[in-house]
Amino acid sequence: MIIPATATSIQKAKKLLEAGHVVAFPTETVYGLGANAFDQAAVAKIFTIKSRPAINPLIVHINDAAKLATVARIDRGSLCERRVNRLISLWPGPLSLVLPKQTIIPDNVTAGLNTVAVRIPAHPIALDLLSVIDFPLAAPSANLSSEVSPTSADHVWQSLGDRVELIIDGGSCLVGLESTVLAITDEVPIILRPGAITREQLEETLREKVDMFKTAAAENANKKIIHSSPGLLFKHYAPKTPISIRDTVSREDLPEKVGLISFKPIPTDKTISYERVIYLSEDENLDEIAKNLFATIRELDLLNLDLILIDVCREDGLGIAIMDRIRRACGLT
Ligand code: TXA
Ligand code: MG
Repeated sequence: MIIPATATSIQKAKKLLEAGHVVAFPTETVYGLGANAFDQAAVAKIFTIKSRPAINPLIVHINDAAKLATVARIDRGSLCERRVNRLISLWPGPLSLVLPKQTIIPDNVTAGLNTVAVRIPAHPIALDLLSVIDFPLAAPSANLSSEVSPTSADHVWQSLGDRVELIIDGGSCLVGLESTVLAITDEVPIILRPGAITREQLEETLREKVDMFKTAAAENANKKIIHSSPGLLFKHYAPKTPISIRDTVSREDLPEKVGLISFKPIPTDKTISYERVIYLSEDENLDEIAKNLFATIRELDLLNLDLILIDVCREDGLGIAIMDRIRRACGLT
């Protein structure tokens, strides 16, 4: 059931969560599927509902940095503590920190790892919900495993339907891409998943160099990376319709029904008759592209096309996260 976010629906969600059920709620990035992060049985329901492999760990959501110590073990005077003290200036926001976990966090939340990913979401409804309950919420994106993440309550409904008792509707997500996941326990902090908090922002805040998982992959070999973020193993963000980057498909290979996602209105090849062309932005504005990307992929996926073509955007700042999701949707990573 989808219900608008009101004081009454927040209370209803609180009751369900306290009784060990799961609830879908909006965040600034994508909708989350939340359960009591301290309750192993409740967390297990998330994995069942999403058909999520047990080896893919969840992000724990809190509403106040003062609660961080309840979920993560940060030693006094440690490098980790110094980094956290700087990074919390970016909270609430689309940044998940991978930290040593407290034993109170059940193993299924972290897929057996000794670290836990934590963030404070920058969304008034998520913060309201987190403030009325006295436990953190473990919450992955509220879609079936391997689907495109939901950026509206309707998307959650399309993906999960009655599998979730309650979907709190908070409108469209402002950011539209999942949070940046940053591991800060190693010598060099490493971005495991790029997001709206960019590498430049992190380096400026931390006043040290930050690696991208790709660079580290080259240095450390794949095994280490798979171990550090199992979520990277899976094909994500893929629609049912085949999707390819426009430049990689030649004209003569195009099937009959083709849709195009472009980033600004530019003249398209008039000799190709697209079934549908969607411009994500008037002027290649990266914030706009990120906000609309998943909704547009979902929209075209419903049209029974033979192929979706998508353009590339410039790869700096938020463009890095956008192209990461596009490559994953196209099966290129
Ligand atoms: O924006 C977001 O992060 C959204 C909203 C709901 O907060 N959540 C989200 O969760 O995208 P999910 O489950 O779809 O993605 C979680 C990612 C996965 O790639 C997972 O591998 C990584 O975070 N992760 C979680 N815990 C980790 C850990 N302990 N170590 C390394 N990576 C971890
Ligand atoms: Mg997800």
